Amino acid sequence: MRYIRSQLAVFICLATLSIAATAGDNAAEPSGETVFKAHCANCHTGGFGGFFTGAPKVGSQKDWKELTPKGVDALTVNTVTGIGDMAPRGECTTCTDEEIRSAVEYMLEKSR
Ligand code: HEC
Repeated sequence: MRYIRSQLAVFICLATLSIAATAGDNAAEPSGETVFKAHCANCHTGGFGGFFTGAPKVGSQKDWKELTPKGVDALTVNTVTGIGDMAPRGECTTCTDEEIRSAVEYMLEKSR
């Protein structure tokens, strides 16, 4: 039991360190991939969240065929203000406009 607990402590330590390291990287320039994975992937990678909400799936050319032509600017505005069944900022109330935009860029890049 004590062994398991100390392993757990080490794990939590490492996890905290890696989160801190990632946050440091993002201070300069938010990575779209990081924002996406943390705040958008639940709904936008298919699976249960995607099925449940009907969110366009990243990586699906079919889902993005009609969205991509709107362009990054319009898609970012729609995400920030909310559209259809998606709440404003895709529910990420702490995300800045730049972070939303970089996440949208990441999504488009992965869905071409
Ligand atoms: C709770 C689920 C959920 C989360 C979390 C979420 N989305 Fe969405 N998203 C949706 C749904 C549902 C739609 C489809 C909206 C519609 O057209 O009815 C959508 C649509 C979009 C679109 C297309 C907008 C358009 O113009 O049609 C973009 C871009 C998008 N989301 C980006 C994001 C980004 C970036 C994040 C993370 C910051 C995010 N979403 C988080 C559910 C979600």
